[in-house]
Amino acid sequence: MKSIQSNIKKAKKYLDKNHCIAVPTETVYGLAGNAYSDQSAKKIFKLKKRPLNNPLIVHYYDINKLKNDCVINDNFIKLHNKFSPGPITFILKLKKGSKISKFVTNKQKSLAVRFPKHPLFRKLLKSLNYPLAAPSANMSTRLSSVKASDVIEEFGSKIKYVLDGGKCKIGLESTIVSLLDKPTVLRYGGLDISKIKDVLNKKVLVKTTSKKKIAPGQFPLHYSPGIPLRINATKPKKDEAFVLIKKRKTKFKNYYYLSKKNDLQQSAKNLYTILRKIKKDGYKMIAVERIQNKGIGRTINDRLTRASKY
Ligand code: TXA
Ligand code: MG
Repeated sequence: MKSIQSNIKKAKKYLDKNHCIAVPTETVYGLAGNAYSDQSAKKIFKLKKRPLNNPLIVHYYDINKLKNDCVINDNFIKLHNKFSPGPITFILKLKKGSKISKFVTNKQKSLAVRFPKHPLFRKLLKSLNYPLAAPSANMSTRLSSVKASDVIEEFGSKIKYVLDGGKCKIGLESTIVSLLDKPTVLRYGGLDISKIKDVLNKKVLVKTTSKKKIAPGQFPLHYSPGIPLRINATKPKKDEAFVLIKKRKTKFKNYYYLSKKNDLQQSAKNLYTILRKIKKDGYKMIAVERIQNKGIGRTINDRLTRASKY
């Protein structure tokens, strides 16, 4: 308990000085900085080598703190009441007079906002008098981090501090839904979109691929392990690592399992860790077995499809 308090204090100290630190969320680790500070926002882009035209998600402790920055609407209230804190990001209209840095939004009039669930991150947010911009803690286009050690692998000593909250429970990024106009899902994620439809009780559009850059996370190449990957494979070719959804009795050195028993939730949680491990084990190519396209399986397939564009 004492160490939790002192870690939060340490994290706050860095953030107050406009440094970037890594923070745990229930989805993936974030690279966080003060969303009201141009200096902090610029540092995030630089560290991630992220193009400045790709806006950042801002994380809030609660809706009260959000009210200074965004215009709230009915669809938002319904979804927020049901799913926040949790793995959903809302695109809302930015309020005139909001203090959000123009670098965070790339001068757009909308803002991506999320209320993360991880208790450590919530404690930290509660202790601050500004929200935190925090994209996933990885180099642009690469795999997100789901453990403190992944973050260190990505950034080494370039970041000041990692608030270690253990392995992320969900392991894939949040679901993004735009509420600027008709509810529109822009990214599959940790929250099943059928649940969003149920709560809104109306049609929800899905625009997760787009030639127009609605969300630059929709760029074809993303979530890449940095080596070629192919999907819907039935067997591995020579020298390929083979990723399977369910453990097999036969032992092959190049077989990697996402779950023991065809469990999609477990597979989501393990996906990035296994892809990282395969690369570390020295493989130059990855084949992945077909994964059921339902629930979070849809998010897994979305990430694998993008990774396969390498
Ligand atoms: O689970 C998550 O969402 C994690 C954790 C750390 O919260 N964050 C995350 O951030 O995945 P990032 O930056 O890797 O992905 C956020 C996506 C980007 O593709 C960005 O283009 C999009 O959200 N985005 C940000 N602001 C937007 C806006 N105003 N309109 C549309 N898309 C936006
Ligand atoms: Mg990302």
